[in-house]
Amino acid sequence: MDFIAHSRRREQRVIASPVAYWEPLWASGRRYRQITDTETQLLADHLGPGHGRPALDMGCGDGALARHLHHQLGYQTIGVDCAPSAIAAATDAAAATDADAGSSDQPRFQVMDFAADDLSELPDPAYALITCRLVFRFIADKAVFLDKVRQLLVPGGTFWVVTELADRRADDDPLKSLGVTAPDVELLTARWSSSTAVDLDRLACFALRP
Ligand SMILES: C[S@@+](CC[C@H](N)C(=O)[O-])C[C@H]1O[C@@H](n2cnc3c(N)ncnc32)[C@H](O)[C@@H]1O
Repeated sequence: MDFIAHSRRREQRVIASPVAYWEPLWASGRRYRQITDTETQLLADHLGPGHGRPALDMGCGDGALARHLHHQLGYQTIGVDCAPSAIAAATDAAAATDADAGSSDQPRFQVMDFAADDLSELPDPAYALITCRLVFRFIADKAVFLDKVRQLLVPGGTFWVVTELADRRADDDPLKSLGVTAPDVELLTARWSSSTAVDLDRLACFALRP
């Protein structure tokens, strides 16, 4: 059963319609890797304090990273995701945080397909920080996506990407296709004035600056 699911994922190397693929997963209760203390330490080390500057989390899922950026690092954060059920989960979690903290200062969340929709509908024209966690591997046209990110970053801003790497799994591992390939990494890290990579067990985190 598990293998069949993994095989299907391997076939879906290119996802033609992100919302058709992701919405049923979120609606059925599927969730992804939690943010660990090690990851939050990397965020603190490589991104630093937001001081109220705008941040955009692309493919935010249930909003855990956006909430961390907003509440712990101090960025004014918006998370976008193509799956309405993901945005509903993110909004609910933010409301629960609201109730716990007695504060209404929360990240915003918006249903948006960043590949197909008009990004000028985002609330800010440019961002000091753009994050993309466990998403890059699934983007059909990565070069076009990277161009959009460059246009949305302020000078001196940071693009933070967390992704699994294919070469960290054996060739016969059915989950190997969850990772990005070496050419994907080359594409991701080209054309930045600075590029830093740090390990997060099987994953890598990239801090890219224009
Ligand atoms: C593996 S999940 C990761 C979710 C979240 N970033 C996390 O770390 O838990 C990938 C997410 O990317 C979103 N996504 C994929 N393609 C997208 C697109 N073109 N526009 C917006 N969201 C997209 C999916 O809906 C899904 O929520």
